[in-house]
Amino acid sequence: MKGSTAMKTPLVAPFPAARLRRTRATPALRALVRQTHLAPSDLIWPVFLTEGTDLEVPVPSMPGVVRRSVDRIGAAAREAQGLGIPAICLFPYTGPDARTADCAMAWDPDNLTNRAIREIKSACPDIAVMTDIALDPYNASGHDGFVVDGEIVNDETVEALVRMALAQAEAGADILGPSDMMDGRIGAIRAALEGAGHRNVTILSYAAKYASAFYGPFRDAVGASAALTGDKKTYQMDPANRDEALRLVARDLSEGADMVMVKPGMPYLDICRDVKDAFGVPTFAYQVSGEYAMLRAAAANGWLDGPKVMMESLMAFKRAGCDGVLTYFAPEAARILNG
Ligand code: PBG
Repeated sequence: MKGSTAMKTPLVAPFPAARLRRTRATPALRALVRQTHLAPSDLIWPVFLTEGTDLEVPVPSMPGVVRRSVDRIGAAAREAQGLGIPAICLFPYTGPDARTADCAMAWDPDNLTNRAIREIKSACPDIAVMTDIALDPYNASGHDGFVVDGEIVNDETVEALVRMALAQAEAGADILGPSDMMDGRIGAIRAALEGAGHRNVTILSYAAKYASAFYGPFRDAVGASAALTGDKKTYQMDPANRDEALRLVARDLSEGADMVMVKPGMPYLDICRDVKDAFGVPTFAYQVSGEYAMLRAAAANGWLDGPKVMMESLMAFKRAGCDGVLTYFAPEAARILNG
């Protein structure tokens, strides 16, 4: 009231009770109260493979990332292991010749991925080898499933994915990553693995995978951009949806997934948190090619501090509830973490 002599209610609690800056004042105090930690053991390193020998071919839209020939993959695995990175994830580059309508190369025991698995298992047996299960590297249409009369057919695709999974398990893969988003593939793969005696092969399901434009540079890296007709919206998720992500995770866990993934990463941290809170299972995010390219491009222009935004982005995944991150930054981040 105007002219009142009554004491005003203080706007903040009286000092010194609520000085939140106290625990930020020194590095030691900040270290003590830090809630989230990032370590090399949180990282999975995605690497691209190419035919040929003695090759490391740069991927133009992903500066710092190369496609390696199989004879160079053992060295990459040893580098990762030396840095404390527990797993490496393989993606084959395939030219137009390897792509057919029947996708037969996908389950060939001697395809690029399967040769690379064997190479890593002999060069560096203790690192975990993860694979990608989807037909897109070997499909003339660039899609993750068979295309019949313009439709991506689910059940026929699942049969092919099972063959692909068995070939990878046979080659020695530790973690299978179905990224295809067909219905029923986790159950079918799990049953086939059990049937073939591969009881300890784990499945990290790309459970909540969105139809994202952030996959652009990856499709260049694996040779899928030119092949892809149309989009993947009939099988990958609508970026507008949240509840559906939880239904997909529940479904994949019930079918035998050991771990689940949210993809892309940074624009979907809310989904990571939802999944971790709802299920409490090993949860991973994929910081995809477009996220990597975006940070790299801004750093190359001097607009962002590259190493700092890299580390901040990786910490954000941990804070959002992820147990780990698939990231092209893995070796660079591990080097910083190892001091
Ligand atoms: C394909 C697959 C994709 C990625 C991983 N597996 C691309 C897609 O779905 O088109 C994307 C990874 C990235 O962008 O880094 N099955």
